Amino acid sequence: NQKEFFSAHLLDWYTENKRDLPWRRHRNPYYIWVSEIMLQQTRVDTVIPYFQRFIEQFPTVEDLADAPEQEVLKCWEGLGYYSRARNLQAAAKQVKEQHGGQVPDDKASVFALKGVGPYTAGAILSIAFNKPEPAVDGNVMRVLSRYFLIEEDIMKGSTRANMERLVVELIPESRASDFNQALMELGALVCTPKSPHCLTCPVMEHCAARIEGVEESLPVKTKA
Ligand code: ADE
Repeated sequence: NQKEFFSAHLLDWYTENKRDLPWRRHRNPYYIWVSEIMLQQTRVDTVIPYFQRFIEQFPTVEDLADAPEQEVLKCWEGLGYYSRARNLQAAAKQVKEQHGGQVPDDKASVFALKGVGPYTAGAILSIAFNKPEPAVDGNVMRVLSRYFLIEEDIMKGSTRANMERLVVELIPESRASDFNQALMELGALVCTPKSPHCLTCPVMEHCAARIEGVEESLPVKTKA
């Protein structure tokens, strides 16, 4: 069974090979949230020192909510896309006022946070709260399009929706946090856009693109 093989072997691989990243050291929903916002447009290596400074300066949601905006922007300086920082602080105020400073763990409340779209909501709900929600970004779409030989254009909303349904099917019972992070990790470390490292891939054996020899021509993506 191609799906069961994928889930089982990917999870085992992740357990052995995951990177030690600062937001993986504690399951603090606020840390997960901040890291996901930073990672939206910025690479992991760049994010790490910014994440550490940010958490030092604003250790809790309430600290972030109460900080002067200029201090928040100063801490973000160099990361770019400053609306991310403004939205994050606005959302921290929402969490302080509406949820007593605790990041909510229900779908509707998380989706209602400023700056939080479907990917980030899924990442918070699954990584921080282990809820069986999909967190499908470009990396994840690349992995799935190759393994399952999905040739639909990933720029189409329907393709993303199909992949979200597929991820929900693939999440092993009570392992949403590790499984979604494993998908991201495989995309970052092994199933890379160019010259994927198939020989070290834990699921190569049943990867449909690899079997067909078309891994480098997937995913199909039209220009934006
Ligand atoms: N990219 C986006 N989210 C990530 C995460 N939680 N870990 C590693 N890379 C990521």
